[in-house]
Amino acid sequence: MRRKIVAGNWKMNGSKDLAEKLVGYVRSESESLDNGVEVVIIPPAIYVRDVVEQAADTLAVGVQNVGQWQSGAFTGEISAEMVKDQGCTFALVGHSERRQIFGESDDMVAAKVERLVSCGLTAVVCVGETLEEREAGRAEAVVAAQVKHGLASVAADQWSRIVVAYEPVWAIGTGKTATAEDAQTMHASIRKVLAGIGAPAESISLLYGGSVKADNAAALFAEPDIDGGLIGGASLKDKDFVSICRSMPAGT
Ligand code: 13P
Repeated sequence: MRRKIVAGNWKMNGSKDLAEKLVGYVRSESESLDNGVEVVIIPPAIYVRDVVEQAADTLAVGVQNVGQWQSGAFTGEISAEMVKDQGCTFALVGHSERRQIFGESDDMVAAKVERLVSCGLTAVVCVGETLEEREAGRAEAVVAAQVKHGLASVAADQWSRIVVAYEPVWAIGTGKTATAEDAQTMHASIRKVLAGIGAPAESISLLYGGSVKADNAAALFAEPDIDGGLIGGASLKDKDFVSICRSMPAGT
């Protein structure tokens, strides 16, 4: 059975107050979740400790980015080891905002994935095409290349620490969600690519992200190759986020 995951990526939003109130609420509500979903909070790194304390071993905590090096003179960066040291178990890698705004390349993504999995953290590797690429009929090819390149250095015994998040760039923060059918088609294609590179494709969780809300999560999560969601805006609203966590069907 694949891990079912709902992760809230706060991006550069939130505060110490939100870390206390929202995480406290999500933690208490998640105690009654009976669908086996792993709930992950991914705040800005500066709030990781506050969130870890609130999460109290009930929720998992992650970071939005790590440096690709082990340690050294890299001002402003944090390492996978530090992330683990602070109680995180997850990290995003290659989010489209990092690729587009900060010039993160597939090589950097691969190096970060290597650092994370060798520290025992779960790397959520984000992939997705732009609107232009989709309209040119290149969506599957673009995503396949990102998957292959980003996961090039994963060793045979490290696949259990890999999660792939499909986030079409045109659906992020725009209110435009991929239809459940389109998302399913891409997820099935990603699973084929994973099998093609020798990964245990059937056991790797694939998350969908891009304008997931309380009212569309259930349709997305009902698809056979969608194992959860990576939630942006709606993860900052306590009731909406919990409602998305509850939308995961039990026993799939
Ligand atoms: P939205 O849910 O705000 O569209 O953001 C998606 C996302 O980028 C999560 O990483």
